[in-house]
Amino acid sequence: MLVHAITSNAAYEFASDVRAGLTRPGQKELPSKYLYDDVGSALFEVISHLPEYGLTRADERLLRRHAYEIVDRLAGPVAVVELGSGSGKKTRWVLEALCRRQRTFYYPVEISRSALAMCERELRDIDSISIVGFEREYLDGLLEVAAHRKHGQHFLVLFLGSTIGNFDRSAGVKFLAEVRRILEPGDSLLLGTDLEKPSAQVLAAYDDELGVTAAFNLNLLARVNRELDADFDLRQFAHVASINYEVRSVEMHLRSKRRQMVCIPAAELVVEFLEGETIWTESSHKYSTEEIVPMARDAGFRCEAQWVDDDWPFAENLLTAE
Ligand SMILES: C[S@@+](CC[C@H](N)C(=O)[O-])C[C@H]1O[C@@H](n2cnc3c(N)ncnc32)[C@H](O)[C@@H]1O
Repeated sequence: MLVHAITSNAAYEFASDVRAGLTRPGQKELPSKYLYDDVGSALFEVISHLPEYGLTRADERLLRRHAYEIVDRLAGPVAVVELGSGSGKKTRWVLEALCRRQRTFYYPVEISRSALAMCERELRDIDSISIVGFEREYLDGLLEVAAHRKHGQHFLVLFLGSTIGNFDRSAGVKFLAEVRRILEPGDSLLLGTDLEKPSAQVLAAYDDELGVTAAFNLNLLARVNRELDADFDLRQFAHVASINYEVRSVEMHLRSKRRQMVCIPAAELVVEFLEGETIWTESSHKYSTEEIVPMARDAGFRCEAQWVDDDWPFAENLLTAE
């Protein structure tokens, strides 16, 4: 696979985001995109196999069942761009269906280099596929792919796994509108959305018995230690998952078990944590099937079709750029 590697000063950006997030007044926070270094991406793969985390399996069932129907609705020739592909395992179903009818360019856009490598290993055996990975932020990668669009080519953008849920609702619409601005009328966006479900089921998905999600969350502090020379004592922080009923999301936090000071030299920062104080690391918003249509419309898309899993409330939504 050809990979366009990151060129910006990633270490500097990480340090300044950590500094901004841990010094802001009120709730401390760290951007969820930093959960995905090599260790985080590997742990996320394990999470997707956990019995409590039915989301990935629901997404995959829908893609497997409806891949040909999805592809038949697309006017060709089609190039596929996947935002935050992760390992790309589920994407196989759509790519195989498309590759049966045409040679297909597939462009995974990922900030995690190891996820991009996993994705390539996972999908390179598909007949008639060319994979070109972009180690980029979502919109930077999409812009770069769009700049090389061939005449008459349509795009199918994949945003699977309910990664849209990491944005709050208004930021989610804004993000989709930015995606839409890069696309052309008639291009498609396949959007995975995790749906509302009973509290116990949703909480277990983000706080599994084995503690893999806890390790995934704590790895963010370990990453700050590794990359910014910090001295977080991981045993003095606990993973917490809780439901924010007001905004219909699950939040992951890291709670300080005692009052402590942490030194982060590469961010030129010494930060105090009170006992019980938390760092907010991720939100996963949950949706109703009805809200997807207006959400898509507000971002400049028409919802063509929606498929809902029978076992785990999750919807796959095929949107067309208007
Ligand atoms: C929740 S995982 C989902 C992975 C996969 N799409 C799935 O459905 O299983 C989110 C993926 O997006 C990537 N990611 C997170 N923030 C990103 C950003 N701002 N730009 C590009 N990729 C990002 C992560 O590295 C991770 O692989």
